[in-house]
Amino acid sequence: MSEKESICDTILDAIGNTPLVRLPKDFAPDVQCEILLKLDYLNPGGSMKDRIALHMVREAEKKGLLKPGGRIVECSSGNTGAGLCVVAAALGYAITIVIPDKMSSEKISALRALGAEVVVTPCNVDIESPMHYTKVAGRIAAETEGAWWPDQYHNRDNTDAHYYSTAPELWEQCGGKLDVFVAGAGTGGTLSGIGRYLKEQNPQVQIVGVDPPGSILAHYWEHQEICDSAPYAVEGVGEEEVPGAWDPHLIDQYEVVPDGESFAMARRLAAETGIFPGGSGGMNLVAALKIARTLPANARLVTILPDYGKAYLSKVYSEDWLRDFGYLPKVAASHAKVRDLMREKNTAVLFSIDSVAWAVRQAGERGVRPLPVQDGLGGKLLGVFDEDRALQLLAEGANLDKMHVAQCLCAAPVVLLAGAPWQRAVEALQHTEAVLVEVRGEYRSLDRRDLLQALKRLDHSA
Ligand SMILES: Cc1ncc(COP(=O)(O)O)c(C=O)c1O
Repeated sequence: MSEKESICDTILDAIGNTPLVRLPKDFAPDVQCEILLKLDYLNPGGSMKDRIALHMVREAEKKGLLKPGGRIVECSSGNTGAGLCVVAAALGYAITIVIPDKMSSEKISALRALGAEVVVTPCNVDIESPMHYTKVAGRIAAETEGAWWPDQYHNRDNTDAHYYSTAPELWEQCGGKLDVFVAGAGTGGTLSGIGRYLKEQNPQVQIVGVDPPGSILAHYWEHQEICDSAPYAVEGVGEEEVPGAWDPHLIDQYEVVPDGESFAMARRLAAETGIFPGGSGGMNLVAALKIARTLPANARLVTILPDYGKAYLSKVYSEDWLRDFGYLPKVAASHAKVRDLMREKNTAVLFSIDSVAWAVRQAGERGVRPLPVQDGLGGKLLGVFDEDRALQLLAEGANLDKMHVAQCLCAAPVVLLAGAPWQRAVEALQHTEAVLVEVRGEYRSLDRRDLLQALKRLDHSA
C-alpha cells in the first residue's frame, strides 16, 4: 500500500480498529466521570466476534486443524457465526452454523446471506440434550470429513483474540488512562481477554462483569456454585454452565441487569445519540451508568457495544415485540383503547391512482388484509382492495400495470376510531375477520389474530 492510499486488500483487513466514542454528557447528567463506548458493532460482520473468528481460523490453520477445502462447523448465537462466515468467504472455506431458534430472524437470514449452511435447533432444551446447539455442532463436525469445530466456548484463541486485538487497541485509544472496564459474558472471551491485558498494564483497573437474570455467571462469581438457570431474552450473553473461556478471578464486581432495562437503554442510546447497539450493548450501558454514578469526575470508564442494533429490528427495536413479551408496561383493560391493540406491521395504504399491479405486490409482500384505499394522502376512504377481482383480472390476462386500484375496489368493513374503547374491536370482530381503524386520517387493518395477540398487552386485573 502506498503512503497516500488506505485500501484493505481483503475484508479481513477491515476487522478491528473500531471507534471509541464518548457518551454525551447530557445522556446522563448525574454522572461525573467520563464514559467511553467501544463501537465494536462496526466490524464487517456486525459484531466484535469477527475478531475471534479471524484469530481462531488463523490459529487452526497454523495447527493444521483446518486445511484448504475444509469446512468450519460452529454453534453460535449468531455473531460468531457471522464473523466466521465473513472469514470463511474471504478464505474460501465451506461453513455450517448451528443456531438456537431464539435468535432473531435477521441474524439467521444474515448467516444464509453470507453463504452458510444454517441448522436451527430448539432453544428450550437441556444443555445435556443431543438437540442442544453445542451438541449438534459437535456431532456434525465429528461426522463431516475435513470439518473443524472452533468451539468458541472452550477455545483459548477466543480469549487470545481479545487479548491481542481488542484490549491493546482500547489501551492505545485511551492513551493508557482507563479505570474501569464493563462487559457482559457469553463465552467469557471478551471479559477474560480484555481483563487479563488491562490488569497486566495496570492492576488497579477494575473489571466489571454484567449478566442477565437467569444466567448462572454472576451467581457463580459470587458464591462459586452453579444455580438454576432461567430463560432471558437478551442475546449473546449469560450462560447456563461455566464456559471455559470465562475467568472469574479477573472480575472485581458483577452486575445483573433485567432484559427490559437493557432493551430500553439500547433504544434510548440509538434514538438520542445515533449509536445503534444490540440488546447486550444496552445491558452493558445500564451497568456502566450504575458504576459511573459512584466514580469521581477524573475517572474513565469504558464499555463495549458488541453488536449492531440492525440485527434486532424485529425484536429490541420493535414496539410490537416489546409489548407482546411484556417489556413495555401493560395498559389497564379498564382504560385501554383500540389503538392499544394495533400492530406496527399493519401500516400499508393504497391510493386510487395506484396500479393494480402495485396493489397486488403490496397485498403479497406486506400481508396486510384488507388493504385500505384512499383518494389521496389523508384523504377519503374509498373502500378496500378487492383481491378476488384482482385474481380474476390476472386469470383473464389483463395488464394490471395499466389498471388503477379504483377499478378494483370493494366496500370497506367496519371502521373504528383509534381512541374508541378496545371492547368495540372485540364486538366487531365477532362478526367479521377484520376491521379498519382510523388513526389521524389514515386507515389500518386490525384482524382477529392481531386482537388475540394483543390481549396479553392488557392488564385485566386493573
Ligand atoms: C451480542 C453479544 N454480546 C456479548 C457477547 C459476549 O461475548 P463473549 O462470548 O466474548 O463473552 C456475545 C457473544 O456471543 C454476543 O453475541
